[in-house]
Amino acid sequence: MKAQQLFDVSGQVVAVTGAASGIGFAYAEVMAVNGAQVSLIDRDPQALADAVARLEAGGARVHGEVADVTEADSLRQAFAAIVERHGRLDTVFANAGISGGPGFLNGAGERNPAGAIENLSLEVWDRVIATNTTSVFLTLQIVAPYMKKQGGGRIVVTSSISASKTETLVSSIYATSKAAVGYMVRQFAHELATYGITVNAIAPGPVITNIGGGRLKSADARQPFERAAPMHRIATPADLQGAALFLASPASSLVTGIQIVVDGGTTLGPAD
Ligand SMILES: NC(=O)c1ccc[n+]([C@@H]2O[C@H](COP(=O)([O-])OP(=O)(O)OC[C@H]3O[C@@H](n4cnc5c(N)ncnc54)[C@H](O)[C@@H]3O)[C@@H](O)[C@H]2O)c1
Repeated sequence: MKAQQLFDVSGQVVAVTGAASGIGFAYAEVMAVNGAQVSLIDRDPQALADAVARLEAGGARVHGEVADVTEADSLRQAFAAIVERHGRLDTVFANAGISGGPGFLNGAGERNPAGAIENLSLEVWDRVIATNTTSVFLTLQIVAPYMKKQGGGRIVVTSSISASKTETLVSSIYATSKAAVGYMVRQFAHELATYGITVNAIAPGPVITNIGGGRLKSADARQPFERAAPMHRIATPADLQGAALFLASPASSLVTGIQIVVDGGTTLGPAD
């Protein structure tokens, strides 16, 4: 089959949560420029309007829905509006997420008191679990009935390499929130397979985005992560677009319950 057909997403109705920035914006962009009808969902109205305008300026037909993924009613209304507008929902990226703060070590490999277990706050725990984990459960719960009714669909979750490895430089709460997401992908992939619905994840290593106040935009902050990656480079959002296109397209029609790791080899362990 020709690459053009294998990776064809034209005409698909696609929704992306957390689409106003970073990885979510990159997913929305790759789908839109390849002919999908994309709805961007985000809680930040101004950033969302800017993101929609950027894609429209490139000639894409996209829509924005303001919603908070931690609020079930708000999220339900956003998806209802998308289905009302387009009549169906082919691919959903459950992507919105936040940082949990620092890890228990700093970039120099020293203990970081702010990341020590006794200093982690319940308030941060609740916010990170709500945004990174419960939101994925809510999204799947809302979109699965639409997809069952239409006879199939694709769900792509942004997990993280923290879903399957412990962390030192990244918050223990964040790693825990993503581990639950990794398991959810397998569990709901199993349950929904018979309905023609695939559930997969993209598991990035560190990516230069606005997460955590955009700290990876600083060369100093990037350095320990670049050292830990055998390919000595961390990702930009564009590095995730190939996996997104694959998981939304006919090329992956029998692929379900997996996580595609995009991390320059970080999970393999350090090298020269
Ligand atoms: N950047 C990384 O290093 C990295 C690595 C692995 C996984 N991830 C994951 O990728 C996903 C996207 O993160 P990013 O790095 O692009 O961050 P980002 O901050 O650049 O973008 C996240 C977007 O999600 C939105 N958002 C946050 N909370 C929301 C909520 N409650 N409701 C609706 N929208 C909300 C923000 O407004 C923002 O537009 C997250 O799930 C993150 O955990 C990021």
